[in-house]
Amino acid sequence: MKIDILTLFPSMFESVLKESILGRAIEKKQVEIKIHNIRDFSLDPHKKVDDYGFGGGKGMVLMPQPIYDAIESVRTKDSLVIMMTPQGIPYEQQMAYNLSKQKHIILLCGHYEGFDERIRDMVDMELSIGDFILTGGEIASMVVVDSIVRLLPGVIEEESHLQESFHNNLLDYPVYTKPVDFKGKKVPDVLLSGHHENIRKWRLEQSKLKTEQRRPDLLEKS
Ligand SMILES: C[S@@+](CC[C@H](N)C(=O)[O-])C[C@H]1O[C@@H](n2cnc3c(N)ncnc32)[C@H](O)[C@@H]1O
Repeated sequence: MKIDILTLFPSMFESVLKESILGRAIEKKQVEIKIHNIRDFSLDPHKKVDDYGFGGGKGMVLMPQPIYDAIESVRTKDSLVIMMTPQGIPYEQQMAYNLSKQKHIILLCGHYEGFDERIRDMVDMELSIGDFILTGGEIASMVVVDSIVRLLPGVIEEESHLQESFHNNLLDYPVYTKPVDFKGKKVPDVLLSGHHENIRKWRLEQSKLKTEQRRPDLLEKS
């Protein structure tokens, strides 16, 4: 898979793309991620990318030209262009699964007051990572990249995905490690029993219970 990220703040991605599972996936060429500075595409002599909004109001608006040219510089017939915006479709795990099957994703990060409305016609999809306002689309696009890359073949063991929260619309079951007794709080006996079928049943029950208590909306979906 290839991912191109269009941003005004490329250096924000440096450490995120170097570390942990994401860093290893890039190193092993399981995913190719390139960061592009939208400012490089501005035709303005001062490399301006934003201006005051018509009709007044606070905040600078991103101009269409640099963004159009930035998108076109990386777009191919296989590309899916995604605008990061709080006005987009709420992002969730099923969408991460779907996006992980794409050949090429272009993520467009906004900033300031947001995008000139005409930029919306240049994209295939608008995504929001939640009902809150971030300063820019960089962190939002990192969320999307991280959640997609860990689903790519070979990046982490496939079995791990099947046990994670949201698979089958359930939250994950409780997990424990050493010590068996921590300040009087003990690991449930069933997990120490070595009885695989009982462990499987206990985990499923716990998953259902947690989901009922914390996210009944997920059970309604299933
Ligand atoms: C300050 S926000 C602009 C918000 C815009 N004025 C509005 O109210 O819809 C600047 C940029 O941050 C990004 N952003 C902010 N919140 C986001 C969210 N919840 N999901 C995805 N992107 C977000 C978008 O790229 C947006 O263009």
